[in-house]
Amino acid sequence: MGAVNDTWVEPDLGSDAFYADPYPTYQQLRSYEPVHWSPQWGGWLLTRYADVVSMLRDPQKFSNVGRMSSFLSQLPEQIRDEMRPFEDHFKQGLINSDPPDHTRIRGLLNKAFTPRRVEAQAPQVESLVNELVDKALCKEKMDVIGDFSFLIPTTVIAHMLGVAVEDRERFAKWAEDITAFVGTGRVISELALGAQGSLLELREYFRRLIALRRSEPQDDLVTALATAEDKGSLMNEAELLSVCVTLLLAGYGTTMTFIGNAVLALLRNPDVMLLLRNDPSLMLAATEELLRYDGPIHRQWRIATDDVELRGMKIRKGQLVAAMLGAADRDPEQFPDPDRLDITRRDNYHVAFGSGIHFCLGAPLARLESQIALKLLIQRCPSMRLENESLNWRRDITIHGLTSLPVSLV
Ligand code: HEM
Repeated sequence: MGAVNDTWVEPDLGSDAFYADPYPTYQQLRSYEPVHWSPQWGGWLLTRYADVVSMLRDPQKFSNVGRMSSFLSQLPEQIRDEMRPFEDHFKQGLINSDPPDHTRIRGLLNKAFTPRRVEAQAPQVESLVNELVDKALCKEKMDVIGDFSFLIPTTVIAHMLGVAVEDRERFAKWAEDITAFVGTGRVISELALGAQGSLLELREYFRRLIALRRSEPQDDLVTALATAEDKGSLMNEAELLSVCVTLLLAGYGTTMTFIGNAVLALLRNPDVMLLLRNDPSLMLAATEELLRYDGPIHRQWRIATDDVELRGMKIRKGQLVAAMLGAADRDPEQFPDPDRLDITRRDNYHVAFGSGIHFCLGAPLARLESQIALKLLIQRCPSMRLENESLNWRRDITIHGLTSLPVSLV
C-alpha cells in the first residue's frame, strides 16, 4: 500500500493483515495522504493527531447526527424498510446527538454516572477479578478474552444498572449481535435483522426495568437515570432507553478488547511486565500508555455539515469523515518514538477515549476496571505466556482487538 515508486496504491482496509496490524497502513496514510478518501469505507480518513483532535472538537462542522442512517442507507431497500425501528433507536440519545440535545442529556447522565458511583465498584471489581484468576489458575490456562476480560465490563455495568447477574449472558449476546453488525463497516444484510432483533429485546428488557424502578426505586443507575433532573428537565422515555442501551454497548466491547490488547502488549514486552510486577504503582501511567499504544477504538465517524477544505482535500457537505484514533495515537509529531511501549512517557495526551464533547463518559470506569484487572493478573500469574503465536483478530473496523487470547499460566 501507500506510495510505491511515487505511485499511490490504495490501502486494503479489509485484509487480514490490516486487522492484525493496522499501524503500518496508518503510518503510510499519515505520511502520504493524511486526509484520504477511502472508496472501501465510503468516507474520508483523518490520520494525523492534530486533524483528529480539531475535528472531534468541532461539532458544528462535524456532526454526530444521522450517522446510523447514513450507514443503513447502503442496505437493500426492502431490508432498509424493515430496519426502521433500529434506525429510529439510533436517532436518539447521547452518542448520536449534537448540542443542545447532547449538552442536556450529558448533563443529566453526569448526575447519575457520578465519580462516587464509579469508585464504589472497586471492591466488587477486585473480588470478581480474583475469582476469575482463581478459576484460571486451577485450570492452568485461560482465554484472556472469553474467560476473563469479557466477564468484567458486562458484570460491572449489569450490576451498576441494576440488572440481575443471571441475565448477564443474554445481555452480552444482545450487545455482541448489535456490535457485530455495526462494527464490520460493511452493511451485511444477514447481520442486520439479527442486530435489530437483539436491540428490540434489549429495549424491552430496559423498558420493564425502568417501570419497575420507577415504582420501587433502588440505589442503582437505572433508578438514578430515570429520576435525574437538571433545571426541571428530565429525559424522555426514548432518550432513557437509548442511554441505557448506550451504557451497555459503549462499555462492554471496548473494555473487553482493551484488556486483551493490553495483556498481549505486555506479553510481547516482558521488560515492561516485570517493571509492573515489581512496582504496581506504575499501573496508572502504564494503563494510559497501553491505551495509547493499542487502544480498542480505532475510528469514530462524523458527518460534514458543510463543504470544508482540509490539507488541500475538498470534503463535501454530508460526507462521512472518520477520526482514526489508533492512527492519531501513533503520530510521531505528537508522541516521540510512537511505536515503542514506554510507560514512563510524559504528556501522554492520547485520544483513545476521544476528545471534545463526546469524550468517553465511562473513562473513569474503564480505567478502574482495566487497572484492577491488569494489576491482579500480572501479580498472580507470573508464568503467563502465549499458548500460540497465531492470533485471531476481530474483523471489525471500529473495535481493534482479538477474538480470543489463549494463555498458559504454568
Ligand atoms: C477502554 C475502554 C473504553 C474506551 C477505549 C472508550 C472509548 C470511547 C470513545 C473513543 C468515545 C468517543 C466517541 C465519539 O467521539 O463519538 C466514547 C464515548 C462514550 N463512552 Fe467510552 N470507552 C471505553 C469504555 C466505556 C465504558 C466502560 C463506558 C460506560 C459504561 C463508556 C461509555 C461511553 C459513553 C456513554 C460515550 C458517549 C459519550 C458522549 O457521546 O457524550 N465507555 N468512548
